[in-house]
Amino acid sequence: MSLMIEGGRRLSGDLTVQGAKNSVLPILAACILSGDVCVLQRCPHLEDVDTSIDILRHLGCAVRWNGPDLEVDSSTLTRWDIPDRLMRRMRSSVVFLGAILARCGQAELSYPGGCAIGARPIDLHLSALRTLGACIREEGGSLDCTAPCLTGAEIVLSIPSVGATENAMLAACGAEGVTVISNAAREPEIVELQCFLNEMGASVEGAGSSTVVVEGGRVLHGCSHRVRPDRMVAATYLCAAAGAGGSVYLEGADYRQLSVVLSVLQQAGCRIRSDEKGIRLRSSGRLSAVAPIRTSPYPGFPTDAQAVMMAALLRSRGTTVFVENLFENRYRHVPQMQRMGANIRTEGRVAVVCGAEELRGAPVRATDLRGGAALVAAGLQAAGVTRVEETHHIERGYSDLVGDLARLGARISRSET
Ligand code: UD1
Repeated sequence: MSLMIEGGRRLSGDLTVQGAKNSVLPILAACILSGDVCVLQRCPHLEDVDTSIDILRHLGCAVRWNGPDLEVDSSTLTRWDIPDRLMRRMRSSVVFLGAILARCGQAELSYPGGCAIGARPIDLHLSALRTLGACIREEGGSLDCTAPCLTGAEIVLSIPSVGATENAMLAACGAEGVTVISNAAREPEIVELQCFLNEMGASVEGAGSSTVVVEGGRVLHGCSHRVRPDRMVAATYLCAAAGAGGSVYLEGADYRQLSVVLSVLQQAGCRIRSDEKGIRLRSSGRLSAVAPIRTSPYPGFPTDAQAVMMAALLRSRGTTVFVENLFENRYRHVPQMQRMGANIRTEGRVAVVCGAEELRGAPVRATDLRGGAALVAAGLQAAGVTRVEETHHIERGYSDLVGDLARLGARISRSET
């Protein structure tokens, strides 16, 4: 499957931003804590959500779509293992570990897969769970975990890992007593997970700050939760319009969660107006280079927006330096962009982008989720036709990239070859 893009058209119009992938994945794992029915309103329909559904069904849960809402009944859960074929399909399968341990007192799974953007170890996840009293044996890529009785404890994360914070929060809900997670990740998705857990009757506070406190051992129940809009999908469309030029309004996009991305786009010459309902961006399509962009944990510049911002700046006037501080292998889109005439040099964690006069359409290959979306954004500005292959990476995180961009006036279509 590939995408064909005829570049050179400005983007204009309004879009409603889909529900957030990175929020809904830990929430789907959290559903099993309730032993009841949870409804996720506006759940995005994505490959990674399908994988979570497959995991939930394997565990014995009943899951069904009801229009845009997803209903998960975990009262029928009977198993605590996740087969390797499901674990490999995405990185986030590992957040099921904390939830299964909290519900069943044992879990059997293997190391997770996911985008090949770096080593992505899970040592912090395992160490957090061990601190709560889990006994985890690692053998030949599989994890055998038992925790007949999890106990609240102080967990100090050496890095504010999003996934490890989520795993610790989920397990802590099933632990007796109080758990304090220090140096917790502060991402909006952690805040949404806290909100969901509290809607199920848990007692979690502090999300959004570096200290999350969970009072465990409560009896949880089902709930209905509206999934918040995806800040990375919003960043993608903002960067796509910034690079191609035009005027777009993204309903649901939250300027508070995107302040650093918006300030870079503004520095590059875009006009931005935000209100409580969404974000409008206007761009001439010819941007200026900006001060160095260094990725860092929230509230810094998000690593997930690095590739799409690079795409926006490929034809900018001047030179922009990117420093990728989170993942060591997150410039895999660069050689693909170079095929389109982009002028980029990389060395280790640094990429230097010199604005090119023109990009030319070319056959390119999506190498990971956000890198793939960035190639689409580059194709929208390129002269001629860009063919983006291996779009399954993109489908892991965008429910309707083609439809959304077509609605904004892009010439983009799917091709079966
Ligand atoms: C989440 C997001 C991903 C985003 C990333 C960073 C989801 C589903 N995915 O991924 O889109 O790019 O946050 O914002 O929410 N680390 C360790 N040991 C661990 C865990 C992490 O060394 O046990 C390191 C990682 O290699 C990385 C850093 O910590 O360098 C941050 O990773 P982390 O925040 O855990 O990212 P994910 O939760 O995998």
